[in-house]
Amino acid sequence: MSPTVLQQADALHPALSDPKNVQYTYTDPLSEVPALSGVDASFDGSTPIIDMEGLLGPQRSEFIKQIGHACEKNGFFAVRNHGIPEMKISNMLDTARDFFHLPEEERLKFRSSDPDSIIRLVTGFQDKTRNIFVSRQSLKFHCHPVEDFKNHWPSTPPSFREKVGEYCASVRKVEVAILDAISESLGLERDYIDKLLKGHYVSINYYPACQESELDVTHGVRTHTDPTIITILMQDDVPGLQVINDDKWIDVNPIPDAVVVHVGDMLQALSNCRYKSLLHQAIVNCERERVSIASYCYPSDDAAIGPAKKLIDDDHPAIYKDFTYKEFHESMWRVKCSTAKRLDLFMAESD
Ligand code: OGA
Ligand code: NI
Repeated sequence: MSPTVLQQADALHPALSDPKNVQYTYTDPLSEVPALSGVDASFDGSTPIIDMEGLLGPQRSEFIKQIGHACEKNGFFAVRNHGIPEMKISNMLDTARDFFHLPEEERLKFRSSDPDSIIRLVTGFQDKTRNIFVSRQSLKFHCHPVEDFKNHWPSTPPSFREKVGEYCASVRKVEVAILDAISESLGLERDYIDKLLKGHYVSINYYPACQESELDVTHGVRTHTDPTIITILMQDDVPGLQVINDDKWIDVNPIPDAVVVHVGDMLQALSNCRYKSLLHQAIVNCERERVSIASYCYPSDDAAIGPAKKLIDDDHPAIYKDFTYKEFHESMWRVKCSTAKRLDLFMAESD
């Protein structure tokens, strides 16, 4: 595989590892963190791998412990034997590529500046103030239940609705199974998180092979955390994803037949920071385009997102106050911050 070009990366904000120290300021992490010299080359590539079949067998509790450990220590893990048929995955990736190979005017029909629209295309952009070109293009759309949304999706390529619908329905099942396991790993009722769930949306991410830009720095997607409970990321065979592990950037290269699960902001809040939202980014590849499919689940508007009561005691005081998903979602668009620092607004009063 050819080497990727990462021209700059952004470090883990130190305050994230101790949320009590976080300042009440909201700035984009790009402006406030030092640049790293690069990706940790010594990393042995050992992404924690969970075999989902184990969750269905007699050793379920052992697998739940593994998931809990991976969420707490790494903030991400890969899942094998997830049950999404290989054919549905390859159809999804092919459809994604076909969509992004359509003429621009066809794709731009889905462009929207409303972050709440059912479907919207986000294009790459230049941030001249920071000398950065962000090359990712994505098509983001709601998809649960599929039948309620699919008429809003592209009708070109002609198989889009069918193939994407099949993938979305399958990935939703994986998501629920993993969320059940995560609830149990925290010592909560199995359906604690499931009961908060409402929707699900997918972002088809397309990273063109290195594009020319007058700017010096090209990112695939800049450092961020996902504002979700968890994200399930399916990558094609082109590397690009990087995550923070032990305060260093590491590559999370595609593992055949596996999807990657990230902890998102909502899980950080409801686990009272036991599981921290994963800082990640994507770099671009000079020779090959890359496609990834991110599935995000989100709670209903009135879902209580603050720390689960069972996780609070004298030794573990609540780091966040009670708040609803609606409150978080509204604040997210006001507070221009792309990491879990946006949760600072909801911190519990300290004595
Ligand atoms: C995302 C994301 C990373 C990737 O869609 O939220 O972080 O590798 N994607 O595409
Ligand atoms: Ni992300």
